Amino acid sequence: MSKIKLAVLGSGTGSNFVSIAEAIEKGELDAEITIVISDVEDALILERAAKFGINAKYISGAPFKTKIEGDAEDKYIEEIIKSGADYIVLAGFMRIIKPKLLKAFKNRILNIHPSLLPAFPGVHSWEQALEYGAKFAGCTVHFVDEGTDTGPIILQKAVPILDDDTAKSLHARIQVQEHIAFPEAIRLIAEDKLKFLTERRIIIKYE
Ligand code: GAR
Repeated sequence: MSKIKLAVLGSGTGSNFVSIAEAIEKGELDAEITIVISDVEDALILERAAKFGINAKYISGAPFKTKIEGDAEDKYIEEIIKSGADYIVLAGFMRIIKPKLLKAFKNRILNIHPSLLPAFPGVHSWEQALEYGAKFAGCTVHFVDEGTDTGPIILQKAVPILDDDTAKSLHARIQVQEHIAFPEAIRLIAEDKLKFLTERRIIIKYE
């Protein structure tokens, strides 16, 4: 099977991007990152991508603040297709993906979310979990659909919420698991190990 090609989109520090790029470098993941795009001009993810020698680009999401639509959406689609990517990986990309991009990459857009979905969708999910009084938090890797953090789940990792946790300490514990989960989920796709039992239910095929 040929190596899968990934376009990584991120708005922030890019630690999840680094976990994927390192897994590829170590030979643990047979994939290639063709481009990294950020909607934030000075996002650290762009700097980190450049250090890996990966084509890194800022593309504004304007005039919208929370979604990619219209001209911006066209530019994202154009650059992603031009890079040769067949999957899009949302690594801390803080905008909603709209139908045109979703359609162009149907069931080929992955997101990592810092909660055990369907609990705590949206932003600052670890803070939501802490404030709610939940005893476990975690992360979810899922395919992206029209909803916010609602697409079919590929895998999840749980962490305990400790009595003395702060938002910062809990997010750090979740991120350790994110950095394991995201490369693992991409590897399952690269090795063709996922099977849709229903439109929502995905299982891992073990031969
Ligand atoms: C991660 O914790 C990711 O789960 C979260 O943003 C952080 C990005 O960190 N994503 C979302 O909240 C998406 N709704 P990173 O830039 O260091 O990878």
